[in-house]
Amino acid sequence: MNKDIERIVLSEEQLANMVKGAAAWLDERFKDTNTPPLAISILKGSVFFYCDVVRAMKTPVQLDFMTVSSYGNSTESSGIPKIVMDLDASVYGRDVIMVEDIVDSGNTLHKLKSFILERGAKSFTIVTLFDKPSRRKAPIAADYSCCEIGDEFIVGYGLDYAQQYRSLPYIGVLKREVYEKKN
Ligand code: IMP
Ligand code: MG
Repeated sequence: MNKDIERIVLSEEQLANMVKGAAAWLDERFKDTNTPPLAISILKGSVFFYCDVVRAMKTPVQLDFMTVSSYGNSTESSGIPKIVMDLDASVYGRDVIMVEDIVDSGNTLHKLKSFILERGAKSFTIVTLFDKPSRRKAPIAADYSCCEIGDEFIVGYGLDYAQQYRSLPYIGVLKREVYEKKN
């Protein structure tokens, strides 16, 4: 285990099971849809979860990516999400699936939801690996959440602290001393 990790929250095996659950839920939701939904990954945090979910789905989907920044090098969101890289595809008239790593304050998804619906998307479905409902500030809820967690800062499987730990294959809680000495 990485020396900065206090404990493992989800193993690779547990993550694989959550991916299956999310893919099955999406397949059921879009089983009668003729046009492939547009599955969007919000880079970089959701990248592994997204890649695993779209490959586990039976429903054909098209892929697109966005980068939104709000965290900088801290564990607290700045509250003002900024679109750093926009989509290639048009969302007009499309079913959009937003694949997120964590819904925390909800500011990011709240902003993206209005942004995408204003561009004329037919529907907007949020699938997230983690949900921190106790931290919510914006009025937004995930349609499917794999796992609820409390007010802890986690890393791995795409999730970072100051751009580190993303490539860990499991999800772990970061030792407080790692970010308290830097924040
Ligand atoms: P929100 O706008 O506050 O909901 O922020 C959501 C984003 O913050 C997520 O997509 C993550 O990138 C990041 N985030 C929130 N909590 C954590 C965490 O515990 N570890 C790593 N990143 C987090
Ligand atoms: Mg993210």
